[in-house]
Order: sequence, then structure tokens, then C-alpha cells
Amino acid sequence: MNELKIFCPATIANLNCGFDVMGLCLEGIGDEMIIRKVAEKGIKITKITGADLPLETEKNVAGVAGLALLNATQSDFGFEIEIHKKIKAGSGIGSSSASAAGAVFGINELLGKPFTKQELIHFAMKGEVIASGSEHADNVAPCILGGFTLVRGYNPLDLIKIESPSELYAVVLHPHIEVKTSDSRAVLSPTVSLKSAITQWGNLGGLIAGLYTKDYELIGRSLNDVIVEPARKHLIPNFDLVKNAALENGALGSGISGAGPSIFALCKGQAIAEKVAYAMSNAYLDTGIAFDMHISKVNDQGTKIITN
Ligand code: HSE
Repeated sequence: MNELKIFCPATIANLNCGFDVMGLCLEGIGDEMIIRKVAEKGIKITKITGADLPLETEKNVAGVAGLALLNATQSDFGFEIEIHKKIKAGSGIGSSSASAAGAVFGINELLGKPFTKQELIHFAMKGEVIASGSEHADNVAPCILGGFTLVRGYNPLDLIKIESPSELYAVVLHPHIEVKTSDSRAVLSPTVSLKSAITQWGNLGGLIAGLYTKDYELIGRSLNDVIVEPARKHLIPNFDLVKNAALENGALGSGISGAGPSIFALCKGQAIAEKVAYAMSNAYLDTGIAFDMHISKVNDQGTKIITN
């Protein structure tokens, strides 16, 4: 086997109370990549469609992540990478992570799987640095592992995959404006008050407990963010209107997806998700900004090989 086609799903990071530690994997929205084993050593990005991204290996998240993996092996081969972007850069649903995840996943497969999926996340995070200036795993972990993931710790990396309650649906409103993760991180204060921290870790514990016990009400009560959302929401037109529309129409919770500008809601059941998506769309219309809506179950598989 010398060539693989990979599906690299979009993800929602943070989930309000879990800044830089929580994420979930989406179905149906994602990039495709072709990874090819070649005689020439190193990583070469041969083609990018759907986005204006650098072809230079060291400037491309897939290239950097792939090189990090390759440098940890004694491989006598190299790899070519084609990236077919469907997830727009700066959308808040893990565009850069999908590229990083796809590269390390595909190369690992073609090398005969020397690394576990958990180990691949370490390499994929090296690619994230190019996009955001920081090594965080809350998009790459769910992208590779699927489901909900918690980064229990970064040093050393300690990841936990959490099963998703079956009736949970994610709704994502993706405005066609770009918010760079580095800019969205620059508005954050490096310190938080003890009061806010107590609220936030109570909610994060509640979210984890709610996911394990399939307690949808508890999940909803826990989807609150008193630290990051107040600092970032001004970057997203109509954020409060869209969030309130989601909550008033039955969403369990709603907030900024990753670093924005996408806005997400979690809902119990498809019927509520569709109603919430409609309400969120209506609340965004008067911005005059084009947007996409996605309704998705939680994708338990993560990055995968596809055949066509
Ligand atoms: N946790 C990250 C952030 C996700 O919110 O900045 C975006 O890549």
C-alpha cells in the first residue's frame, strides 16, 4: 500500500467550560487528503485545493506535523501530501487541526502504524503551533480519536476519550468571516479570578459527569463559560442573539466553537437540532454575512481512510 485517501473531520473545541481541554468530533464536515509514500525522503505538499495555504512544508500545518512524525522514525521513505480543504481556515471548527491530523494519521498508516492514535496527537500538535502560536490538543485529539475528548494534562500529554450520549446533536453556524486563532487568543487575559475558576471547573466536572451518565440536563447546565466567551464574543457579529435563539428554542447549551467565529449549540435529538438551526440562522440573517449551517451527530470514529 503506497497511497491512501483520508477523511479528516471538523471539530468543536472548548465546549464553553473546557478551554484548551475539551473537544468533540463532527460528522459529515471535513477535509480530504491523499498521502503517498515516495522514495525521496522528507515531506512534500504537492497540491492544495479549496484554500490559499502555503505549499512549503515548514509553513504548512500538515507538513510540520508530518515532519515531526517522520523525524521520530528511521524511515527510508518520504511522503507526498495532497490537501483538499472543505473546512475554511479561521472558521473555528478545526481547519488546521484536520490537516495536521490527516497528515500524521495517513503517514502512520503507510509506515505500518508504528504509533498509537494517542501518540499521533503529540505530532499533530506541532502543526497547530503554525496556525495558532500555541500547542493545544483540543481540536487534534477529537479529530484523531473521535467522540468527545478531554486533555487531562499537557505535560505529559494525558488524553481521555469520552463516549457520547447517542441522542446528542451539534449545530454549527459558520459565518464566512475569518477569525485567526492567534488574534482570538491575544484578547484573553493570562490570569483569571479564583471566583471564575471555581465556576469554570465546576462546570467542566459537570459536563464530564453529564456525558458519562447521559444526563442531558446536566450537560446543558454545565455548558457555560465565564472566562473566555466574555472576552471573545465581540469578535462575532450577533453572537448573543444567535446564542439566545438557540437556548430559547431548546438547545442544551450554546457558545463559541473553538476560537470562533463559528457558534455551536448542543441539542438532544434531531428534531430540536433542526429547530435550533433554523432559529440560529434567523438570528444571524441581519448581519448580511453569508454563513453555513451544519447539523451533526457526534462522530465516534475520527480521522479515517476512505476509498473513493
Ligand atoms: N482552544 C483553542 C482556542 C481552540 O480556543 O484558542 C482553537 O484552535
